[in-house]
Amino acid sequence: MSKPSIFVTRALPGDPTPRLREVANVIVWPHDEPPPHDELVRRAADSDALLTMLTDPIDAAVLDAGKRLRLVAQMAVGYDNVDVAAATECGILVTNTPGVLTETTADLAFALLLAAARRVVEGDRLTRTGGWKSWHPSFLLGQDVHGATLGIVGLGQIGLAVARRARGFDMRILYHDRTRHPQAEAELGAEYVSLDRLLGESDFVSLHVPLASQTRHLIGQRELSLMKPSAVLVNAARGAVVDQQALCAALKERRIAAAGLDVAEIEPIPVDDPLLTLDNVVVTPHIGSASVATRARMAEMAVESVLQALRGELPSNCVNAEAFSRRKQA
Ligand code: GLV
Ligand code: GLV
Repeated sequence: MSKPSIFVTRALPGDPTPRLREVANVIVWPHDEPPPHDELVRRAADSDALLTMLTDPIDAAVLDAGKRLRLVAQMAVGYDNVDVAAATECGILVTNTPGVLTETTADLAFALLLAAARRVVEGDRLTRTGGWKSWHPSFLLGQDVHGATLGIVGLGQIGLAVARRARGFDMRILYHDRTRHPQAEAELGAEYVSLDRLLGESDFVSLHVPLASQTRHLIGQRELSLMKPSAVLVNAARGAVVDQQALCAALKERRIAAAGLDVAEIEPIPVDDPLLTLDNVVVTPHIGSASVATRARMAEMAVESVLQALRGELPSNCVNAEAFSRRKQA
C-alpha cells in the first residue's frame, strides 16, 4: 500500500515533520505567504490530510476537491477559516490545538491591556522622535489597571486565564458568556452580567469569544456607545468580532479611551488603514500564541492529530466527531 500524503501549509516551528515522514509523504509549502486558494484546491485533491493555519481558507471548494481527504488539522485554537459543516458533510475530520496556547494568549491580551492603558507604545514612539521634552505632571496620563473593573466577554479557557491575571492586579471581574461558570464565580469572584451591563460598568473590556455568525460584529456602534469614555477595549480573539469601522470612529472621537488589538477584520491590516493613524490604539500582528515554546507545542499537537487520524483513530481534538461515524459508515 502506498504511503498517505500530507500537505502542510507552512514550515512548522521545531520541525515536527520527521515524525510524519516516517508514515507519510509530506509536502511543506515553502513560502512565508500562505498558499493561494487554487494551490489549496490542487493539494487537497492529492492529500489524505492537510495541516493548516488560520490564514488558509478551507472552504467547500477545497473540501470537495479532497476526494481522499480524511483530516484538516488546524494549527490554532480558532478554526473559523474552515467550513466545518462542509467538512462534516464530506466525512472529513477537523481538529484544532486548544489548551496549549491558553496562557500564552492570555499573556498577550494582558500585555495589550497594560500597553493601551499606560500608553506604552505611544510613549516609546514619542521618546524615539524627540517628544520627551521634560517630565511634566500631565504628560502621557493613562488609565489605572490595578483596582479597575475588567469585563471579559467569553469566559472560555483564555478568558479564564485573563481573569486569573486580573486577580493579581486586584481587579473586579465581570463576565458575559452563553453559559454561567459557577466555579469561576466562586474561585475568581467573577460576576455574571448582561453584555450591556458589562460594557457600561467596565474600565477594560477584553474579548475572548470565537468568531461565528452569532459573534460577528458583536461589538458595534451601539455597544461601543455603552462603554465609558475612559474605557479600553482589548481584542486578541478575531478581528470581525468587532465592527472595526465603528471602533475607529469611537477611538478617533475619544468616545472610548483606547484599544489594544492583536487581530483585524482584514489581516494583515493594510498600512493605510485609518486605525493606524490613531495614537490611542496599540496593534500587534496576530501574535497571541507566538512564543517559542507554545508554537512548538501547537505544531506538535497538530502533527499528533494527523498521526491519530492516519491510524484510523478519532483524534483527541476533533471538533466534528460526527464526521468520524459518517466516514465509518461509508
Ligand atoms: C490564534 O488566533 C488561534 O486561534 O490559535
Ligand atoms: C515618577 O517617576 C515619580 O517619581 O513620580
